[in-house]
Amino acid sequence: MSLKKRAFKCSVRNDDGELEKIEVDGEKGQTECTLSIVRTNKTPQKEIVLNGRSEVCRCGRKVIIGDVDLTMEFESEEKAKLFRQFVDFRDESGCLFDRRTEVSSADQYFQFYGYLSQQQNMMQDYIRTGTYQKAMVQNFVDFKDKVVLDVGAGSGILSFFAMQAGAEKVYAVEASSMAIHTEKLVSSSQYAGRIKVIASKIEEVELPEKVDMIISEPMGYMLYNERMLETFIHARKFLKEDGLMFPSIGDLHVAPFTDEALYMEQFQKANFWYQQSFHGVDLSSLRDDAVAEYFKQPIVDTFDISILMAKSVKYSLDFKKASEEDLHVLDIPVKFQVHTSGTIHGLAFWFDVAFCGSYTTVWLSTAPNQPLTHWYQVRCLFRTPLFAKAGEFVTGRVLMKANKRQSYDIEIEASIDETGCKADNTLDLKNPYFRYNGATPQPTPGSNTSPSNEMYSGLNISLDSFSKQETTIYQTDSPSSQQKQQTPSVSVSNLKL
Ligand SMILES: C[S@@+](CC[C@H](N)C(=O)[O-])C[C@H]1O[C@@H](n2cnc3c(N)ncnc32)[C@H](O)[C@@H]1O
Repeated sequence: MSLKKRAFKCSVRNDDGELEKIEVDGEKGQTECTLSIVRTNKTPQKEIVLNGRSEVCRCGRKVIIGDVDLTMEFESEEKAKLFRQFVDFRDESGCLFDRRTEVSSADQYFQFYGYLSQQQNMMQDYIRTGTYQKAMVQNFVDFKDKVVLDVGAGSGILSFFAMQAGAEKVYAVEASSMAIHTEKLVSSSQYAGRIKVIASKIEEVELPEKVDMIISEPMGYMLYNERMLETFIHARKFLKEDGLMFPSIGDLHVAPFTDEALYMEQFQKANFWYQQSFHGVDLSSLRDDAVAEYFKQPIVDTFDISILMAKSVKYSLDFKKASEEDLHVLDIPVKFQVHTSGTIHGLAFWFDVAFCGSYTTVWLSTAPNQPLTHWYQVRCLFRTPLFAKAGEFVTGRVLMKANKRQSYDIEIEASIDETGCKADNTLDLKNPYFRYNGATPQPTPGSNTSPSNEMYSGLNISLDSFSKQETTIYQTDSPSSQQKQQTPSVSVSNLKL
């Protein structure tokens, strides 16, 4: 056990209400510290033991130890802070979730998931919910008469799917106040008594038995946002040796993209701060800060796949094997071969997860060529774009560092092997820019064939009608396939996502 010793000087009020100088000798261990309070005559007067559950707070130069009703006044705020740090065991106390999460972040997070409207949003993502149901029901052999753990059950929808697939029992663990609604839903259903709703964090719960299967929907933007995958992996302590995780694997895809309009849009927003007389006030000194702020935001929306300039690089995680620590720093080296010359404005991200059941594997994809989900896709811009020619190689790195706000600090960098030109940026995944507005995304401008010529390729024009000086156009294809021809041609199959 490592011990740290330190002495502090401060003042306390004595029984007469006068400020009296004291010295405090502290001895700090791993989980607690002992304070010997010494008056100026050096006689030990009192011993206090503090740990992670002790009530201690600092306000300016004062530190209050609630356990013994003692207010200590230090010479300066800095000295008070040093003492507060010395007696701070909050990080070593509480469950793993609490240790890796700021209180304010967790409060906001579980408040959000406590709303029925938020659970409804997820439930109404038909691709998401439908794929989960399909994956579980099609693999009913893995659920039949089995004990299942639903990690972050929310409304309990996945627990109900497990029942539909033949599970004997489900432990539905939910940390937000949604658990109250879930209990109501379960008790009014045919599965009352078989779905056991537990209002708790997974990291704090104890289960009476090991389970055959863990189900969860722990994916956030860019797969890793929210850091719930760590909770999902943590729950593996309840899984039998031969048990299954649903989903079983997760792939994060990264590809370089070009989007001049998006790049200009961010600059234009920042240019508000370029004004020298906004209501008579010169804002221009903040313009650079505004650019920095806008470029720190990952952009959440969707895009036409023609903006992708190379085949994506995949970063895979096996939920049955990965440890929680593996998710603290994600270091993803990337190498792309550019297939279309142009300007690379940043890196685009999306993810797929797979449910690898005994009967079949089912994929849930958020790729840009797949039906849109509430995860959309995410793009991280470079501050300065890069020009690349077809055939050239781009080498780079995506570094994602987990933070206590249940998110990641992202660093991206790339350089063109042939020219040595470099680009980079640092972004905050906790503060994304929701850009999606429902509009159909635009393909990249310019086409290698004449769209006007192609516009007529699906039409059958009668020569007879020309002789009568009239043009009759017979529609041989469905209106929707005709509509497809109106957009510039995009070769989906070439991209092989
Ligand atoms: C993305 S929602 C999924 C809800 C539901 N399973 C579904 O598929 O509709 C994640 C849920 O997990 C819960 N959750 C997140 N972290 C948790 C934890 N550490 N312990 C228990 N529940 C947690 C959240 O409150 C939220 O309701």
